[in-house]
Amino acid sequence: MSKLRIALTKGRLENKTVELFEKMGLDCSAIKNKGRSLILHIPEPDIDVVLAKAADVITYVESGVCDMGVVGKDTIQECGSSFYEVLDLGFGRCRFALAVRAGSDFYGGYGTKCIATKYPKVARSYFESKGMDIDVVKIEGSVELAPLLGLADGIVDIVETGRTLKENGLEIAEYVSDISARLIVNVASLKLKKNDIENFIGRIERCL
Ligand code: PRP
Repeated sequence: MSKLRIALTKGRLENKTVELFEKMGLDCSAIKNKGRSLILHIPEPDIDVVLAKAADVITYVESGVCDMGVVGKDTIQECGSSFYEVLDLGFGRCRFALAVRAGSDFYGGYGTKCIATKYPKVARSYFESKGMDIDVVKIEGSVELAPLLGLADGIVDIVETGRTLKENGLEIAEYVSDISARLIVNVASLKLKKNDIENFIGRIERCL
């Protein structure tokens, strides 16, 4: 068996991925006691685990330095292209939505609407699919601020519980799409390490 390398998205998805791996019987003690280490080892099957930010997980899998990755559909839609998306892992469930100040009419008026978002590609393609031209402002975090400060007419962002919107006087105007964690695989790895990767995918599937 050849060594596999998998990139995991740090943070919320990391804990859920470890839960899944433990359900599969994998020894995750190195990940749970990682300290500042960024490459951790699982002894059986022989896997190196790399912890990275979501967009970097995609970079590592696309380039082939990692064979597989666990990353949210949100990041795949925003950044991804050339890899196989093989499994919906079922956790990290949330959705993309268009949100506005409570009570405001996003489609009212004639001017070009401005959307603030961490996901410009997702926002553009959503409004393109409606045949609507919009301006997009890229924001790095706490996007909810933009309509409150008068910078944008609305936001396209991730909504999980809806609490952030509610506590800031915003509401969902439209649902955009569903999001959850996905297993992605490098194209060449799936050929070169076919048996090992398929066995690993099979082990995951039996635990979902
Ligand atoms: C995400 C998202 C919303 C919030 C939604 O932000 O961008 O702000 O979570 O969660 P809720 O519906 O459960 O309230 P994140 O926590 O990743 O922080 P950031 O906006 O600063 O990146």
